[in-house]
Amino acid sequence: AFNAAGLLKETGRVAYDPGFMNTANAKSAITYIDGDEGILRYRGYPIDELAEKSNFVETAYLLIYGNLPSASEYEEFETMIRRHTMVHEDFKTFFDGFPRDAHPMAVLAASVSAMSTFYSDSLDPFDDRQVEISTFRLLSKVPTLAAYAFKKSKGEPFMYPQNKLNYAENLLQMCFGFPTEEYEVDPVMAKALDTLLLLHADHEQNCSASTVRLVGSAHANIFTSISAGINALYGPLHGGANEAVLNMLRKIQAEGIEPEQFMEKVKNKEDGIRLMGFGHRVYKNYDPRARIIKKTADEVLEQMGSNNELLDIARRLEEKALADDYFIERKLYPNVDFYTGMIYKAMGFPEEMFTVLFALGRMPGWIAQWREMIQDPETKIGRPRQVYIGEGLRHYPGAK
Ligand code: ACO
Repeated sequence: AFNAAGLLKETGRVAYDPGFMNTANAKSAITYIDGDEGILRYRGYPIDELAEKSNFVETAYLLIYGNLPSASEYEEFETMIRRHTMVHEDFKTFFDGFPRDAHPMAVLAASVSAMSTFYSDSLDPFDDRQVEISTFRLLSKVPTLAAYAFKKSKGEPFMYPQNKLNYAENLLQMCFGFPTEEYEVDPVMAKALDTLLLLHADHEQNCSASTVRLVGSAHANIFTSISAGINALYGPLHGGANEAVLNMLRKIQAEGIEPEQFMEKVKNKEDGIRLMGFGHRVYKNYDPRARIIKKTADEVLEQMGSNNELLDIARRLEEKALADDYFIERKLYPNVDFYTGMIYKAMGFPEEMFTVLFALGRMPGWIAQWREMIQDPETKIGRPRQVYIGEGLRHYPGAK
């Protein structure tokens, strides 16, 4: 019943819990996960029902405000996001300062941090109106900044957002369009992108969401807190796994080895090789997002008319793994990242953009987590204790 300070005072001890494996930092009403049963729900709704019936913008509303919107609430919310996609013109020059080969994820984190300089009229964490304005700014303008980061990395002209397009369509247009020609949105691609964003929209107290809460607990504004979350997501152990899956498939292709041979290497733990995209710290039954994504992957790749060799390798690896005792005994199933990289690649995104797209999907979750944290009267500034293992007292030469 003690908090850390109480525990220290009463017993002279603190709980040592690296990685916070057994520490809850928040009471949250946003996302429910049961890893053993393979359950993921946003605000009580199963992820597969949302993926089938809802869309990313409606799900963003659900995560942030707690309930599904009525028809008029949805229209107002969607219109606000659609109409506020432009960023300040000076923001373009901000991008000029980055080297051309800068990673778009680093550029995105820096530009979201810079939103507190461009939009300094909505920084007060305790002014509900300002928080609301910042919420819309994040949802509607970060896709534009992400597309600028992408265009910058390719040395291509920035594309303005278009109000006539919905969220996913606009993102595709800003990334793949050119000022010299009309961009035709592919509805299958737009729908697939929307589904992928929805599936990534929240995942309770993961590394980036916890970072957003920790930084926000110091009453840092929402832009600053979320840019910290984006930096956390940039880490390969968190947001970079889909890139790793693609690299693995490429390697198998380049070396010309059979997927079955590769599986033997994995099982023999040769050079510590793992089957990337398999296994999950929480989901020990199956990752409910992976099933949905598999269907999306089939649709997109069929639409692209590609007899994608990488997908074929992935399918053979999956088939083999699901029937193999090594994987069954260790409860290793495909996770969400097994297919996302291939879908993004088929859409035309380079690997460096995969985590950027993850960040766009996770935006409603970070916003909802930050807002819940700031409104919770039990929130305290995040301040873990430590177990000191350094030197005892010693004196600087000549001091004594
Ligand atoms: N391929 C082969 N063997 C594996 C794999 C894998 N992908 N994952 C776990 N194992 C084996 C381990 O070698 C270990 O075997 P052992 O008992 O014989 O030593 C056993 O399964 C348990 O592994 P742990 O590392 O203890 O499992 P943990 O739950 O800590 O790890 C993790 C989860 C990090 C996701 C792991 O499964 C992994 O490295 N997967 C590949 C990387 C990946 O896809 N990450 C994306 C996660 S999803 C996301 O971030 C959105």
